[in-house]
Amino acid sequence: MPFKNITLGEFIIENQEQFKFAEGELSRLMNSITLAAKVVNHEVNKAGLVDILGASGDVNIQGETQQKLDIFANTVFINTLKRRDIVCGFASEEEDDFVIVSDNDGGFDHKYVVLIDPLDGSSNIDVNVSVGTIFSIYRRVSPVGTPVILKDFLQKGRNQVAAGYIVYGTSTMLVYTTGHGVNGFTLNPALGSYYLSHPNMKFPEMGSVYSVNEGNYVHFPQGVKDYIKYCQREEEDRPYTLRYIGSLVSDFHRNMIKGGIYIYPTSTKAPKGKLRLLYECNPMAFLAEQANGKASDGYQAILDIEPTELHQRVPFFVGSIKMVEKAEEFMTLYKE
Ligand code: AHG
Ligand code: MN
Ligand code: MN
Repeated sequence: MPFKNITLGEFIIENQEQFKFAEGELSRLMNSITLAAKVVNHEVNKAGLVDILGASGDVNIQGETQQKLDIFANTVFINTLKRRDIVCGFASEEEDDFVIVSDNDGGFDHKYVVLIDPLDGSSNIDVNVSVGTIFSIYRRVSPVGTPVILKDFLQKGRNQVAAGYIVYGTSTMLVYTTGHGVNGFTLNPALGSYYLSHPNMKFPEMGSVYSVNEGNYVHFPQGVKDYIKYCQREEEDRPYTLRYIGSLVSDFHRNMIKGGIYIYPTSTKAPKGKLRLLYECNPMAFLAEQANGKASDGYQAILDIEPTELHQRVPFFVGSIKMVEKAEEFMTLYKE
C-alpha cells in the first residue's frame, strides 16, 4: 500500500462533493471545530496542573476565574464557531436554552445549527481518563434572514448533515461523518495538524465487549437484565468481556474499533435514561449507522425519533449490529 500522509484539510477538499451543500461550507465548519478542539485539548492536557497554576484555587494566572472544564469547552466551541460566519444557532448540554447568533454577527443569514456536548465524560477529568466532545450539525428549517427558532434544533437525527466526536485520549482524535462513511484523524501535537489515521471506520458485525454501568443492575428493565445475563452465560463465544470507561465517546470509540455494544438503559432512578437525544445519541447514532453499526432505544432507530424538547433523554443501545439486534430481541419480550 502506498504511504499516505493526508491531512484533514486535504481530505475535506478532496471529498468536498460528498457534502451536498455549498462548496467551502464544510471546511469552514470543520476547521472551526478542530481549532476549538485543539484549545480544549490543550486545557484538558494540563487539567492536573490547574490547582498548581491557579494558586489560590479559583483564579488563574491571567486573573480570570477558573471555570469548570465543561463550561470552558462550551465557551470555546461556541465562540470559535461563531466567528466563522456559518452558524446561525447553537444548542448545548451546558446551556438551558438554545443560543441565537445575533444579526450583528450575521447569524440571521447563516444556514447551520450546531448541537454539542462540549465535554463528555467530564467526571473522568479528575482521574486522568479519556474524555470527549460530541457535535451534530443540521441545516436550519426556518427561513434565512430570521433568527433561529426551536424547530431548527428539534429535527430528527436522520436530518443531520454532519456529526462527529473528538476523543482526548492517549492521543487526540477527530472522528466524523457527512453521510459517506466515517473517517478518523489523529492530531500530531507537534505540528497541530490532524492526519487521516483511520480511513473508512466500520464496527465489526459482532463483538465480544459489552459496556454498561452494571452497578445499576437492580434498577434496569427486565429486558436489559436478561441481555446482561445472556452476555455472561458460558457458550462458545461467551461470556463477553465488560469494559466501561464512563465516557460515551471513549466507550463508543473502543467498540467501533474492536466490536462491542454500549448500553445506557432506562432505570428506576432515571426513567427516561440519562443520555441526551440531541447532543449525545443522535450524533453517535449517525456515526454508528455510517460505520455499519446500529443505534436504538431498545425498540426503534434513534435517528427516527421525533424530538420534542431540547434536553430530551433516551435509553441508548449502540454498537455492533448483531449485538444491538440481540439486545432488542430481549427488550421486545417485555415491551408493554
Ligand atoms: P457528561 O459528562 O457529558 O454528562 O456525560 C456522561 C455520560 C456518558 O458519557 C457516560 O457514558 C455516562 O454519562 C456515565 O454515566 P454513569 O456514571 O451513570 O454510568
Ligand atoms: Mn455526555
Ligand atoms: Mn457533557
